[in-house]
Amino acid sequence: MRSPKDFFAPLAVGAPEPVRQVPALPSRMIHFFDPSNEKMATKVPDLAPKVDVLLGNLEDAVRADRKTAAREGLVRIAKGTDFGSTQLWTRVNSLDSPWALDDLITLVTEIGDKLDVIMLPKVEGAQDIHYVDRLLAQLEARAGLERPLLVHAILETASGVANVEEIAGASPRMQGISLGPADLAASRGMKTTRVGGGHPGYLVRTDPVSDDIHEGRTTYQQDLWHYTVARMVDACVMKGIFPYYGPFGDIRDVVACEDQFRNAFLLGCVGTWTLHPVQIEIARKVFSPSPADVAWARKVIAAMGDGTGAVMIDGKMQDDASVKQCRVVAELADALAA
Ligand code: GLV
Ligand code: MG
Repeated sequence: MRSPKDFFAPLAVGAPEPVRQVPALPSRMIHFFDPSNEKMATKVPDLAPKVDVLLGNLEDAVRADRKTAAREGLVRIAKGTDFGSTQLWTRVNSLDSPWALDDLITLVTEIGDKLDVIMLPKVEGAQDIHYVDRLLAQLEARAGLERPLLVHAILETASGVANVEEIAGASPRMQGISLGPADLAASRGMKTTRVGGGHPGYLVRTDPVSDDIHEGRTTYQQDLWHYTVARMVDACVMKGIFPYYGPFGDIRDVVACEDQFRNAFLLGCVGTWTLHPVQIEIARKVFSPSPADVAWARKVIAAMGDGTGAVMIDGKMQDDASVKQCRVVAELADALAA
């Protein structure tokens, strides 16, 4: 039987008392399911051991006339399923919708003891987190819950991006932030019509090499999400919470999905959403450091002794800063193996 201690650990290493509680287990993939969909619901017990996080989605992609069914379905599934060491999250409806208040009241009251994290969409600023924080405190007290529910914000409005640092630090309940590229594109007035990923029109062209401007020129596609992901990572790291990529909607395009996930991993994200079973193994592979990278990291760490000074390994200079990077990789591998 899982205990809260399995999931919640002090964030500040060496702190005498936990200063902030975050799920300590890795969450490389947050796998979405629709609790209003009976067929999907029957697959939950088989799915649970295959993912780090299962998320019962109540917001977008659930039809307006299925919102109550989704909420009730999640309560039923949560009560009837042993999730083992898999975390159970939910995405509630946005605070300006007619459903958010009932989502929070019902879920905390009925299954607050089984839920680990509440994902909040369309967060605009710290005020949204403060509102939910106070409401959760009341509902937890009423339900007699022994551990606090954590909050995860989706970064999917222009205002949210502008306020990302204050959102990340708005409450000790903050667990992490995900990129929501589809809503964010709409909010910003971007002209894409996709759910995450790149766009063939967003590119740079190499300079002309001669007077013939058609000669020897090539184009490189750019990453539409680089700025936002990097900004989100900085805000999360500054406040001690976890950054995640979000959805990749072209389920058939597993190659571009892996590329997009890897960009996010390399920029500092710890995980991503998975919308279809085919994306689960992609996320596991991408968000777990490769054996070759881990072996290299351990070699550098061993060669660097106390971590100061400089050594040459295979013709590459290593110093205090490179050993720190190697520790990030090695510590992630250790955490995933634990
Ligand atoms: C996710 O919710 C998105 O809007 O991309
Ligand atoms: Mg969205």
